[in-house]
Amino acid sequence: MRLAVAKETREGETRVAMVPELVGKLIALGYEVVVEPGAGRGALVTDDDYAAAGAVVDERALDEADLVVAVQPLTPAAVRRLRRGTVTVSFLPTGQELGLVADLRDCGVTSLAMELVPRISRAQSMDALSSQSLVSGYRCAIVAAGLLRRFFPLNMTAAGTVQPAEVVVLGAGVAGLQAIATSKRLGAVVRAYDVRTVAAEEIRSMGAKAIELDLPALEGAGGYAREMTDERAALQQELLTPWVAGADALITTAAVPGRQAPILVTAAMVEQMKPGSVVVDLAADSGGNVEGVVAGEVVRIGNAQVWGGRNVPAQMPGPASRLYAQNVLNLVALLTHDGALAPDFDDEIVVGACVTHDGAVRHEPTRTALEGADQ
Ligand code: NAI
Repeated sequence: MRLAVAKETREGETRVAMVPELVGKLIALGYEVVVEPGAGRGALVTDDDYAAAGAVVDERALDEADLVVAVQPLTPAAVRRLRRGTVTVSFLPTGQELGLVADLRDCGVTSLAMELVPRISRAQSMDALSSQSLVSGYRCAIVAAGLLRRFFPLNMTAAGTVQPAEVVVLGAGVAGLQAIATSKRLGAVVRAYDVRTVAAEEIRSMGAKAIELDLPALEGAGGYAREMTDERAALQQELLTPWVAGADALITTAAVPGRQAPILVTAAMVEQMKPGSVVVDLAADSGGNVEGVVAGEVVRIGNAQVWGGRNVPAQMPGPASRLYAQNVLNLVALLTHDGALAPDFDDEIVVGACVTHDGAVRHEPTRTALEGADQ
């Protein structure tokens, strides 16, 4: 069985889906691992590193592949090169990739989307959303500390005391909790807010103070946040205004599954921040939590520098690739039985993650969206 590691082609993507350290495990599962030349370059992994680990480096890795692993969705041209029945494993945001999904279907490819792996206990080791959010959350705190022209920690010196920075984190999922933990480690005073009830306890367990607003919790299916009504959004913004105004650094990480990121902070709120303050918006790629943010840029709003995250995990490609590759390996192991690639379509992880199989779109919301687009 031939497992191909694709070279990423999308602009700004520096990660790679498999790292040399894990090649031996794939070989032990029964795979011949073939890597496209230069696949690891962005993550500082050389072709020689792959070769030393037992992989073959070959321009034509995707041809004749039984399984292709990638970070970003493959290009339509790459999909058309695959044999019918090839399995692909990558991120695949189907809502933005309907044309590609149609290609995968028509080419008879079995495509699995990492973001659709169900978030059940058994699948935690395959949860790439969490592993990449961990990287993003850390990176956000470091960016905030780097942009801020003052100390994060308290400094007591013979020359006097320097007060610690005040950091406010909005959204305390995987990324937000990691941003809190990293800011705390750097010595900042951290306060955080999330709409889910359990989040307050998680915020406190990281050593931060939970911001309590006089608002009902907003929990939806599976313990995730629900979308805010306009009325709730306005009220939440009003109640958060003094917290935002008092922050030296504001980090926002709020998301609602399947929706555009909620606007938590208006430009008017940012304009009330102190001179020298910084805002780091992790959600900028999906519309932003902060009004006026631009993904991939630092813009000035009032006194604040506002940094918009763009493919943030790719800014730490080494660790992000290692964690992602481990998620991929665990999923590949689930798809492999007695040395054969044989996805079990009775397994809820396979069913949940599967977008296309055997010439059909298996993921219901994507099929509906595609039928709508075809009409
Ligand atoms: P996410 O990346 O989808 O969202 C980030 C955070 O934004 C969430 O905590 C959400 O509550 C918050 N948020 C949404 N709207 C907001 C608003 N208007 N104001 C403030 N905050 C807002 O979330 P992530 O990190 O993917 O995880 C959140 C949920 O997923 C939790 O229930 C968590 O326990 C669960 N989870 C389960 C896993 C598993 O079972 N394998 C793994 C990771 C997370």
